[in-house]
Amino acid sequence: MRKVSFAEFGGPEVLRLVDAEEPHPGPGRIRVVVKAAGVNPADWRVREGQVLGAHPTRLPSGVGLDAAGIVDEIGAGVEGVAVGDRVFGEGASTYAESAVLSAWARMPEGLSFEEAAGYPSVVETALRILREVGVRPGQTLLVSGASGGVGSAVLQIARERGIAVIGTAGAANQEYLRGLGAVPTTYGEGWVERVRGLGPVHAALDVAGSGVVPALVELTGRPDRVVSIADLGAPDHGVRFSGVAGSMPDALAEAVDLITRGRLHIPVEKSYPLSEAAAAHRDSQAGHARGRRVLIP
Ligand SMILES: NC(=O)c1ccc[n+]([C@@H]2O[C@H](COP(=O)([O-])OP(=O)(O)OC[C@H]3O[C@@H](n4cnc5c(N)ncnc54)[C@H](OP(=O)(O)O)[C@@H]3O)[C@@H](O)[C@H]2O)c1
Repeated sequence: MRKVSFAEFGGPEVLRLVDAEEPHPGPGRIRVVVKAAGVNPADWRVREGQVLGAHPTRLPSGVGLDAAGIVDEIGAGVEGVAVGDRVFGEGASTYAESAVLSAWARMPEGLSFEEAAGYPSVVETALRILREVGVRPGQTLLVSGASGGVGSAVLQIARERGIAVIGTAGAANQEYLRGLGAVPTTYGEGWVERVRGLGPVHAALDVAGSGVVPALVELTGRPDRVVSIADLGAPDHGVRFSGVAGSMPDALAEAVDLITRGRLHIPVEKSYPLSEAAAAHRDSQAGHARGRRVLIP
């Protein structure tokens, strides 16, 4: 089988499509024929060697956490899933024709592999940071960086829970945010005043890591009402940095429920063949997205 691999940390050019041994699932895992792999910013942070604490990486290394595919091998002790099932979930080295998953769920009826591959990590992250920031129904949440993968999930889950959202995004994504139930405004000069003009904010999420943490504290009035997933300097302002993943099986179960009820849809910004993983990383690193990018083996 073929997979994307890198032998040294570096830019997108270190990614290579190589022949590899087929992986086999250990106890509690399954293997899938990958139909689509989600591209997350974490993938290029791993490729650059930025996050060795959270993602210990031995070279050469595969890439990719999220995938959707068809089950073709089942590890010892696994129940409730059969060869031939269509699943989506999280694993390792998912930019490949075949990958082992450590957490999965059956794909909702009618969902494409391409779209399904975009959900696992963003839904886990969105559920975790909504829990950690402690925002309640009837309150207003500010999301800085609302149009990307995580932001898109946060907005829709918040809407489902009766939480009002103000979201910042680029000019091209204002209508997109409105369609997800948020009151949009643009980031950039004057954004704090624009948000203030939209009314009081009870809690805030820094999803973009664009140096806004002190302003989010000012807008909410309290550092414990702010959570960042993208600014490692957040604790310097008394703000929690959220970096430890919660339960992926619980996140997938919630994703299935929301998708099935038509309450969650994360669009695919662009699909790339596996051979163009470097281009997908370049585009993801450029930092402007509407939903998720995926690779198709
Ligand atoms: N700590 C964790 O557990 C964890 C988990 C998941 C992700 N993350 C991190 O969270 C970040 C977002 O992830 P993602 O998957 O949502 O990324 P993404 O899909 O690539 O989206 C990035 C978004 O950032 C927005 N943006 C760019 N510059 C901005 C600015 N100055 N102000 C506000 N928004 C801005 C873009 O909006 P426009 O396109 O509208 O310009 C884009 O929608 C990444 O840095 C990722 O590494 C951390």
